[in-house]
Amino acid sequence: MDILRTDKLSKWFGGLCAVKEVSFSLVKGEIMGLIGPNGAGKTTLINLISGVFPPTNGNILYQGKNITRLKTHSLNKMGIARTFQIVRIFKTLTVIENVLTAMVNRKTYGPWSLAWGSLFKRSGAFTDNKDACVKAEELLDFVGIGEYRDELAENMPYAFSKRLEIARALATRPEVLLLDEPSSGLNPKEQNDQVEIIKKINQQGTTIMIIEHVMKVIMEISHRLIVLHYGEKIAEGEPEKVYSDPKVIEAYLGGDADA
Ligand SMILES: Nc1ncnc2c1ncn2[C@@H]1O[C@H](COP(=O)(O)OP(=O)(O)OP(=O)(O)O)[C@@H](O)[C@H]1O
Ligand SMILES: [Mg+2]
Repeated sequence: MDILRTDKLSKWFGGLCAVKEVSFSLVKGEIMGLIGPNGAGKTTLINLISGVFPPTNGNILYQGKNITRLKTHSLNKMGIARTFQIVRIFKTLTVIENVLTAMVNRKTYGPWSLAWGSLFKRSGAFTDNKDACVKAEELLDFVGIGEYRDELAENMPYAFSKRLEIARALATRPEVLLLDEPSSGLNPKEQNDQVEIIKKINQQGTTIMIIEHVMKVIMEISHRLIVLHYGEKIAEGEPEKVYSDPKVIEAYLGGDADA
């Protein structure tokens, strides 16, 4: 079953077409990899889906509803969350405060509702702050940074700040999680840890779309892949097949496959 679908989505920046008539579906429960050379339009596509800016043309459907022009905050409430290519956390807040400020009151209940119990059903996330703190701690433990709870976020090692960003996204209890290069800048050991966390999130039932340049990560983690090149979708399907697709190889080699 599709949880999210785009229909001929396009985004123009002045004379530049960053995303060109891209149609695809996310199947509930899958991990979809989104790859392509620098400037291919990957982040722009995630910006469109997460409501950072509206598309120039085309539509986005989520659980059958048209969400094309909704803003990030509304989409958060509906169960769509994302992380950023360049980490965006509140550096001068503590680690747990970063998670607390990300909690939103969701009206519907995604896969996380089971793990979260009925805490949020009655009222807002902050009416019983102690409960919120317990949940925030659980999330920090879930991504393995519980010991940094009361540290200022700016004092955390870089790899852990990437995990904090994921914890902040999880605080909105997403059904669809969009990850923009969660492994960038990490060493191989940290990349493996990140893969484990992402798999664990997916096992809770969250559908994931992940942009990643680290091929080892993307091949290990993705059920399916989409490839963008100059804003267009040039391939889609099983990772092994997509990886050996001549069109994809050519895109990555800069159009000169003989070189
Ligand atoms: N807000 C913006 N205003 C103008 N141009 C933009 C904007 N965002 C992206 N672009 C342009 O759109 C194109 C696609 O950029 P995008 O960031 O989506 O690529 P990407 O696939 O994420 O690349 P990378 O792998 O380097 O992160 C690029 O040419 C970029 O310069
Ligand atoms: Mg990008």
